[in-house]
Amino acid sequence: MPNAHPSITARNVATAVTAAWQRTSNNPSTLEIPLGTVATLALHTQITDRPERTPSDLGQLARTDLLRELSETWARVWLDQPYLVQIASPLHRWLDDQVSDETVRAIRAVLDAANRAGLPHLVDRRHGVPAVDVLGFLVTELRPASARQHLGEFYTPPEVAELMAALTMPELPDPGRLFTDPTAGTGGLLAATANRIRALGGDPAHYGWELADINHLSVACAAANAILWGLGDHVLVYRADTLAPGDHRAAAVSTRAQVLEHHRGVVRAARLAALLTREATPASTGTSPTAAAAS
Ligand SMILES: C[S@@+](CC[C@H](N)C(=O)[O-])C[C@H]1O[C@@H](n2cnc3c(N)ncnc32)[C@H](O)[C@@H]1O
Repeated sequence: MPNAHPSITARNVATAVTAAWQRTSNNPSTLEIPLGTVATLALHTQITDRPERTPSDLGQLARTDLLRELSETWARVWLDQPYLVQIASPLHRWLDDQVSDETVRAIRAVLDAANRAGLPHLVDRRHGVPAVDVLGFLVTELRPASARQHLGEFYTPPEVAELMAALTMPELPDPGRLFTDPTAGTGGLLAATANRIRALGGDPAHYGWELADINHLSVACAAANAILWGLGDHVLVYRADTLAPGDHRAAAVSTRAQVLEHHRGVVRAARLAALLTREATPASTGTSPTAAAAS
């Protein structure tokens, strides 16, 4: 049964998933797959519109169906959040490769552990849950202590982050304000900020968010978190040595513009293809393909 306090449930998820992955995987030092599996399950919980398919059913699917469902989850999220899905690609790129039977078994063990420990309750927005950094707890748990020390990856405990947010933000800030963390890790400090905004009656999507970190996997988790936490469309997430000189932000802004332009092109082409298909059927009416292409 999940614990009532989200950060305790999140810690339990991280511990259970790490144990499941290390017990069952042939390659326990790989972090992308357990992190990506948990991120996918969380997103799947948020977007699933099929009441007949609960998150706990995912692990019961046959191998091909399971891998397809995991990939399609990211594809569906991409329709709304192409930039963040692109930045999160280390968490899902492995789904494009051949996934061995042993790895599929380990993925099932991770899904089962995450479900039993209560992950779906932590991320189901219909229940108005606060933003919680499950991926931050998980990456910390999965990494050996020596690696964490080298990276300086010790995240601010959520209870402390919440207190800091309450003290520094007594009232709801004006919409449009930008919140940044140049050494964001997986974004926990900004989760507390988003929670504070919601507690004051605001919507985090009405603000700007910028998260940077030197570690590519932390950046990928921060991008997935930005989707899970509903930070909206004004989000920039990038990998950079932010302590070194240079305009790291400018390159990130340019990357975001390119990804969004590509997305617009794909959506336009898909609309046109749909219209062409409709026009090719005898009973169809509606906008001409030329008008659709111009829109
Ligand atoms: C102590 S953690 C803090 C994370 C987050 N701000 C929090 O309070 O939970 C420090 C983070 O800084 C990152 N970091 C260390 N050196 C960095 C650098 N030169 N540029 C960007 N990020 C860096 C690490 O990868 C780590 O995620």
